[in-house]
Amino acid sequence: MPTSSKDKAIRLAIFASGGGSNAEQIIRYFAQHASISVRLIISNKRTAKVLEHAKNHDIPSLVIRKKQLSDPTVLINSLTAAGITHIVLAGFLLLVPKALIKAFPDKILNIHPSLLPKYGGKGMYGMHVHRAVYENQESVSGMTIHLVNEEYDKGKVLFQQETTLDPSDTPERIAAKVLTLEHRHYARVIEQFILKDLNI
Ligand code: GAR
Repeated sequence: MPTSSKDKAIRLAIFASGGGSNAEQIIRYFAQHASISVRLIISNKRTAKVLEHAKNHDIPSLVIRKKQLSDPTVLINSLTAAGITHIVLAGFLLLVPKALIKAFPDKILNIHPSLLPKYGGKGMYGMHVHRAVYENQESVSGMTIHLVNEEYDKGKVLFQQETTLDPSDTPERIAAKVLTLEHRHYARVIEQFILKDLNI
């Protein structure tokens, strides 16, 4: 008998604030996976497109208010009730509270659209990163997948991939190049990290 998604041992919650194109890729990648399933989508924006992806894929979603992150007890309870084992940040732009990191130690992954430690830290997200890369006339940019700790973009790096930039690349073009890399690698790196970590 095929394993139903309810029986899968590893249950992901994806946190996303916006477009959710990475979330969508991750949902698709794990849709038929033997041991990993996406079980919950959480967003801090009621209008975030990621909530549509959740609906389209029949995945429960939750909208949280920024305030709920300063006392994340309710949020942690919701994650526990859904049996969540790992959290994946995919364009989630708020700082993850310490209590959540304590509740999921080394079980929260993030993707960042630069080659960290370059262009990381507070205020460095999305197009802000790509504009800074453009203004500094960098010849390469890329993406980083890392574990989340208590500081923005400072957790252990799991994977990086770079892309060459052309002097004619606009910030939008840089963003598109980096996003392509993100879509290509994020789900696979999540899978490899978790299965290795759990010795599966
Ligand atoms: C991605 O490029 C991701 O790396 C970035 O937001 C974008 C979300 O795109 N995350 C950050 O900047 C976090 N500091 P998406 O919503 O289409 O997946």
